[in-house]
Amino acid sequence: MSRKILVTNALPYANGDIHLGHLVGYAQADIWVRFQRMCGHTVHYVCADDTHGTPIMLRAEAEGIRPEDLINRVHGEHLRDFTDFGVVFDNYHSTHSPENRAYAEDIYTRLKAADLIDARAIEQFYDPVREMFLPDRFIRGECPKCGAQDQYGDNCEACGAAYAPTELKNPRSAVSGAAPVLRASEHYFFRLSDARTAAFLREWTTGEARPGVRRLQPEAANKMREWLGFDGDNQLTDWDISRDAPYFGFEIPDAPGKYFYVWLDAPIGYLASFRNFAEKRGDICVEDYIDAQKAAACGTEMVHFIGKDILYFHALFWPAMLEFAGYRAPSQLCVNGFLTVNGAKMSKGRGTFITARSWLDQGLDPEALRYYFASKSNGSMEDLDLNLDDMIARVNADLVGKYVNLASRCAGFINKRFDGRLGVIDEAAAQAFVDAWNEHTLVEAFEARDYGRALRETMRLADLANQYINDKKPWELAKQEGQEDALHTVCSTALTLFRDLTRALKPVLPSLAGEVERFLDIPPLDWRGLWQPLPVGHRINPYNHLMTRIERSRIDALIEANRASLAPSPPV
Ligand code: 2FM
Ligand code: ZN
Repeated sequence: MSRKILVTNALPYANGDIHLGHLVGYAQADIWVRFQRMCGHTVHYVCADDTHGTPIMLRAEAEGIRPEDLINRVHGEHLRDFTDFGVVFDNYHSTHSPENRAYAEDIYTRLKAADLIDARAIEQFYDPVREMFLPDRFIRGECPKCGAQDQYGDNCEACGAAYAPTELKNPRSAVSGAAPVLRASEHYFFRLSDARTAAFLREWTTGEARPGVRRLQPEAANKMREWLGFDGDNQLTDWDISRDAPYFGFEIPDAPGKYFYVWLDAPIGYLASFRNFAEKRGDICVEDYIDAQKAAACGTEMVHFIGKDILYFHALFWPAMLEFAGYRAPSQLCVNGFLTVNGAKMSKGRGTFITARSWLDQGLDPEALRYYFASKSNGSMEDLDLNLDDMIARVNADLVGKYVNLASRCAGFINKRFDGRLGVIDEAAAQAFVDAWNEHTLVEAFEARDYGRALRETMRLADLANQYINDKKPWELAKQEGQEDALHTVCSTALTLFRDLTRALKPVLPSLAGEVERFLDIPPLDWRGLWQPLPVGHRINPYNHLMTRIERSRIDALIEANRASLAPSPPV
């Protein structure tokens, strides 16, 4: 049965570059989307920039521009980076959009009607010089536990302690340097402490995305048990969803000077981007995907790909907001771990905080990175290590040595000796390959985002295809008299196997697969219509080099470029 799926990636903040750490989750989602589409399912894949909040407001101010100008500029940069890495959204929108304002107001109004919004005064640090309340990150001082200087208002990087900003010794505003003062103000809260939300979340958390598939990975489900306190009372506390002016965001209806906290309208941006897309397209019913009743009736899915740092927002606040506002809750969360480089946290000083743009600027192939990330993805929340030497070895061995080599060893003979036309296939060899082909494993692995398994399986098959060529030695047949037909058959068979391997690699390497489709002059490969041998007499195009080896020198230059770009930290 054909599925209808709305897929999203976490929305990146509109004040920073896309780096390789971001790309893990985007590559994983894009691969999944491409695989589902190849299977014939309908997938709408949307994203947007996350544009609101204090850091973006202050960054624009520091640059001497309006926040609107900053977010417009960054939107263009982000979209270009994603596109160049083959992460192709149907729509890349912005949370600073009319659609997002409308959904945010609607959800808030419905939550209020459901008696899930509370207003009460709280005391917070206020910068008397800049005349604004200070988020924890903008308060610095001495750690109350270990005394380390210049620590953030919420936790100490030296000893790891977590605390309230009021516990810091000698607190200072990171905005103006002034000593902050405590000041009371009315805030709005989403009442997560209400018995209804905990009851709903306990059920949602343990539910299925579809028959036999859990909504949450086991590690995420365990985290939820911790947060929800399954065995006792509701342990959730109300969520502060408002911020006082000055703030870059949406003003709350009937609450002048109060704004929605950025994390309230950020995930709503998924819906806004989808609506914006549907309006441009004109033939998609948005409600079928986002209205609780319609979505249930249509069996549509909503799948969010996110990093593990934002699980809390997506597994607690977001489903509860949707549910009690009459919207559909997410079907599934696909959570990825952090990226480490050479076994350590990405570091600007070591040059391992690598931007997406710098990878491209060094002339490195974006699909090499997609391949490596995929080969190390197993569908879990584990961190993923980009070991640069291992990456070079893996890409060179698998893609250049095993896969592309199949075509480069055979295409020349077909083009030069047989006018580019394929001959009769070696039936026995083709059958042996079909018998070895484990379609079920591949489909299951892609579906479960266990791309490492899918690629190991694909490389096992590539080994078989290479073994066939090594056994038949076309380069020797080419020199022997009377072996024309045998040469023709071996090369035609090898190119057919190459085509089938391309199909298995296509979700991961879409651009390379597109070049292969052009080279073989075949229609787009998908997961239907397998094993039709290419017809005798089918004419292929001249072979152009498909992929080159990664040279260590380029990686060294990449690290150097990222170290060199290490600018002094901006004020915010
Ligand atoms: O953590 C972040 O980078 C956020 N900008 C992610 C938002 S995801 C969604 F909720 F919008
Ligand atoms: Zn400390």
